[in-house]
Amino acid sequence: MADSFDVIVIGAGPGGYVCAIRAAQLGMKVACVEKRATLGGTCLNVGCIPSKALLQSSEHFEEANHKLAEHGVNVGQVSLDLARMQARKAEVVGANVKGVEFLFKKNKVTWLKGAGRVVSAGQVDVDGTTYATKHIVIATGSESTPLPGVTVDEKRIVTSTGALELESVPGHLVVIGGGVIGLELGSVWRRLGAQVTVVEFLDRIVPGMDNEIGKAFERTLSKQGIKFKLKTKVTGASVTDAGVTLTTEPVGGGSAETLAADVVLLAIGRRPHVEGLGLAEAGVALDERGRVKTDGHFATNVPGIWAIGDVIVGPMLAHKAEDEGVALAEQLAGQKPHINYDAIPGVVYTWPEVANIGKTEEELKAAGVAYKVGKFPFTANGRARAMASMDGFVKILADKETDRVLGAHILGPDAGTLIAEIAVAMEFGASAEDVARTCHAHPTLNEAVKEAALAVDGRALHI
Ligand code: FAD
Ligand code: NAI
Repeated sequence: MADSFDVIVIGAGPGGYVCAIRAAQLGMKVACVEKRATLGGTCLNVGCIPSKALLQSSEHFEEANHKLAEHGVNVGQVSLDLARMQARKAEVVGANVKGVEFLFKKNKVTWLKGAGRVVSAGQVDVDGTTYATKHIVIATGSESTPLPGVTVDEKRIVTSTGALELESVPGHLVVIGGGVIGLELGSVWRRLGAQVTVVEFLDRIVPGMDNEIGKAFERTLSKQGIKFKLKTKVTGASVTDAGVTLTTEPVGGGSAETLAADVVLLAIGRRPHVEGLGLAEAGVALDERGRVKTDGHFATNVPGIWAIGDVIVGPMLAHKAEDEGVALAEQLAGQKPHINYDAIPGVVYTWPEVANIGKTEEELKAAGVAYKVGKFPFTANGRARAMASMDGFVKILADKETDRVLGAHILGPDAGTLIAEIAVAMEFGASAEDVARTCHAHPTLNEAVKEAALAVDGRALHI
């Protein structure tokens, strides 16, 4: 038997690497197994970070092409250097993943390079070497969900990973799935010049998000030029050198159609990554959706084996995985951490952005909760007007009796940053009036949040 540890974490994504660092901070001897050549998992290598780098760069291109003239800034002929844009993205990723390696060294976390497999409680195999450990943490993340009949080659038919690596702008990009990946990466390539069509199975995009925000978001993206084919299913794909032909059918029945694309992005969700981990042999139970089954405290059914992040129940978000990593490490050190799953923000990093936290109106109605709504449009916010970014609104939902904030939904400039104010408010059990009575600097976008909180009781000042 090789070295032994207090904790071995399998997977160095935001869940795993953060868990490893926190456990080391708390005095445990920690190793983290990662098979990828770099640390940081999906998020840093092929997810959050490269997609945000391309979203930022492509938005600059869009501004130079279509938005700066309004501000009296004339830039003449704008041209795209996609190779440079991709190289910058790679530099951003490189700096981030190196940063995690530095943090491992600083905190004395051992990186076991290779594929990890659970032998049994207390034993992890890494490419043929077995290590002993008191605790095993499964943090192996997720992977793109396949669609029968649409075979991914990462060139013509791509997942998000291939869509982040395209070397030329496709003439026509067809996205299967109107969710977060499809809309963020669809936006990137639309801004850079592609025609983009989103084929969505349901009658709406971003299912799960507040309906009113979802509809407004769809209108905004349509105005930007993205086309939507809702209530449509893809039944097959044929690839030639010239491109891809998709066959589609209306979900409610009707005649089949074909759709020609240069590149197809398959983005119909992600599924837990548990292949080759030896979980069945170790007796670790999965749930009905193939996720590692855990109790409310990250424990699997096998004592000493724990799981966090995308591989377990809950939203597949980096910050949720990170918070679980911290909570589990603290729990293993004997502390009593707590995660409030009712206050986890979600953000779509398009422009304008979309952000949400807590309950939607639909969820409150279904649960029979009496609620009040306060809304405020960015057209009435001075800073948004100065920025020339007035699309969207803030919507706050509060309990009808107690005024406690139950949810917030924002479509608008920097919505992802604005929602943090509501996250803090919800964590403190604040009422809409607490937010409304807090002094907000002028002129800021956050004033729209304050005004929406005032609007909960019908006393917004600027509409
Ligand atoms: P992962 O990040 O998936 O990491 C798991 C790691 O485990 C991987 O590195 C994998 O190589 C490794 N691994 C798996 N099996 C083994 C094994 N047997 N042995 C060794 N190593 C193994 N979330 C956000 O919150 N904000 C965003 O903006 C955002 N953007 C995204 C954009 C895209 C295109 C994608 C695909 C995802 C995005 N996400 C975003 C989601 C986010 O990436 C995930 O929620 C997050 O990475 C989950 O973290 P994790 O630690 O659970 O798993
Ligand atoms: P998603 O769950 O967000 O959206 C998938 C969409 O595909 C849904 O609208 C669904 O109705 C649709 N769909 C499912 N099957 C279909 C079919 N056969 N044909 C057509 N449409 C179909 O999943 P997505 O976009 O793949 O993202 C995966 C995960 O990654 C998300 O859960 C998200 O949490 C995470 N992510 C987060 C980001 C962020 O926080 N900004 C960015 C990108 C990804």
